Amino acid sequence: MRTVNVLAASKTYDVLIGKDAVTSLGTEVKRLCPKAMKVLVVSETNVAPLYLDKITSQLESIGLEVISYVFEAGEQNKNINEIAGMWNKMAEAGFTRTDIVAGLGGGVTTDMAGFAASTFLRGIDVIQIPTSLLAMVDASVGGKTGIDIPMGKNQVGAFWQPALVLEDTSFLKTLPDGVFTEGMGEVTKHAFIMDLALFDKLEKANGNIRDDEDLLEEIVYMNVSDKASVVSADETDNGRRQTLNFGHTVGHVIERDSGFTKPHGVCVAMGMGIIMDACVRAGTLDKNDAEKMKNLLKLYKLPVTDNITPEAIVNGALNDKKKRGDTLSVILVNKIGEAEIKKMTKEEFLEFLTV
Ligand code: GLY
Repeated sequence: MRTVNVLAASKTYDVLIGKDAVTSLGTEVKRLCPKAMKVLVVSETNVAPLYLDKITSQLESIGLEVISYVFEAGEQNKNINEIAGMWNKMAEAGFTRTDIVAGLGGGVTTDMAGFAASTFLRGIDVIQIPTSLLAMVDASVGGKTGIDIPMGKNQVGAFWQPALVLEDTSFLKTLPDGVFTEGMGEVTKHAFIMDLALFDKLEKANGNIRDDEDLLEEIVYMNVSDKASVVSADETDNGRRQTLNFGHTVGHVIERDSGFTKPHGVCVAMGMGIIMDACVRAGTLDKNDAEKMKNLLKLYKLPVTDNITPEAIVNGALNDKKKRGDTLSVILVNKIGEAEIKKMTKEEFLEFLTV
């Protein structure tokens, strides 16, 4: 098993990564949360039938009372009603400040479990047990928690670092192909913004990483290490962490305009492609580098553009929480493995996106 240490300003914790990581759950929870007596396991209807029993027996084996909260799978349920349901379950079961929440599932689940934990009794511990590639390499690490509202994705939330992230890479075997592919949107993003070695590894693997357990574990580890280094440098998104938003300013607009039917990682890939094209037009990114990055996206079955108009992107982006004052922080990649944060006004962003 591999360990990545996250040194966030508010909390230090481990991310455990490996084929049988789940077998360490009981021991780790006992060590990290010795006073806990109850745990709310938050999961959803696709994941719970596969792994809830396994997680429950691990937690019961250390004497915890396990209460589960299973919501209907899907981004459309990442809302305040589900959070209220979690709060009520914990209140009814008499949870105290030393009890804990565990998030078992993809990014929607870990975001919501973290948000429920951050707000219940003004904050209790959360253990994240991601089951999707996207949640392993991105959502479960770094403490961003929250819900969507009709005006936008993740508009309400809190920074709340987990006490532990446990990533059992054998869980990836049961992921539907499309869900695995969506995770590759965030994996390729890390390669583009900061990790040339990861870029080379993905290129060399030629699109075939799913069936090689050791390679997959290594790729998850490289991604978590990348994310951990960024979060350790800037927990609250005031500087370097913003580079993780490469492709997201555009991607979030595409995702929201689709009524959240297009998967997040796929929209991020489209957003990255659109920004790459704009960088090439602006003369800051070499055409060959852009082609290499787009080829990598295609190799992992991701799209590289969308028919959204520059006007729709700019208007949508102005409602995004990443806007500060009158400017937007747009993340550019002008060289493979290096990102730049560029402040643009609405007019500048529109011009940048316009052919
Ligand atoms: N997913 C981007 C971040 O954690 O900052």
